[in-house]
Amino acid sequence: MLEIKNATKVFGKGSAVEHTALRQLNLCLNDGEFATIIGSNGAGKSTLFNAICGAFLLDEGSVSLDGRDITFVPEHRRAKRIGRVFQDPMLGTAPNMTIAENLSLAHSRTTTGPLHFAPSRKEKALFRDRLAQFGMGLENRMNTRVGLLSGGQRQAVTLLMCTIVPPRLLLLDEHTAALDPAMAEKVLALTQKIVKEEKLSCLMITHNMQSALELGNRTLVMDSGRVVMDVSGKEREKLTVPLLLEQFKTLSGRALDNDRMLMS
Ligand SMILES: Nc1ncnc2c1ncn2[C@@H]1O[C@H](COP(=O)(O)OP(=O)(O)O)[C@@H](O)[C@H]1O
Ligand SMILES: [Mg+2]
Repeated sequence: MLEIKNATKVFGKGSAVEHTALRQLNLCLNDGEFATIIGSNGAGKSTLFNAICGAFLLDEGSVSLDGRDITFVPEHRRAKRIGRVFQDPMLGTAPNMTIAENLSLAHSRTTTGPLHFAPSRKEKALFRDRLAQFGMGLENRMNTRVGLLSGGQRQAVTLLMCTIVPPRLLLLDEHTAALDPAMAEKVLALTQKIVKEEKLSCLMITHNMQSALELGNRTLVMDSGRVVMDVSGKEREKLTVPLLLEQFKTLSGRALDNDRMLMS
């Protein structure tokens, strides 16, 4: 379980550009919960992920995972239990290494034993089996350098790297936003399959309002560094995109504003 209490992050403290990106934010995510997150530009969505991963220390508040307070645990140590996929397909993988080498590095990073990128026979079989389930033909390209793959294929490899050993928490930050619609659809379907099969706890930031309501079992709306809406169950089943926009406006007095947001 992920538990964030009273998280506050102020950038440029005391300067003319001081900005409070997280404002006493509280959030609990139970094991196996898959929550989508939407919100205006600058609402603090990526900052929330940075706080969870330990990219910086909070000014106030705490983060705990599985009952352990990780507020002051360094980023590289949290990374063993937290997987993260960014919007940019270039970020998750090493372009000059092959698919198999990237996966092997990710696999050895999260298991015991020495770090390596030359896959063992057993690893190769595992990677081939998992890649085959993607339906992208990547299982036949394990010796291809990742830099030669399309953005969507790279995101698929990154997803597998983050989940080959199931993380305690998977964070997806608009990981399909840079892909064309058909590929985005594929990677989203793949995401859903992996989260379900591995029973992962997952937070997914998306600019697509429709996927925010369809994927997972809970939707969070962020605004000005806080979670302002949190819907699940029956209430979420009844929710539509226009209704969500209306509720947001009533709540915050403004329209949900995101230049990348897809309304349908
Ligand atoms: N490292 C940083 N230094 C200064 N300001 C930052 C930094 N990271 C984020 N911010 C600011 O915090 C606010 C929230 O950013 P972010 O979390 O990236 O928003 P989003 O919801 O669009 O992901 C924005 O105003 C952004 O400019
Ligand atoms: Mg962001």
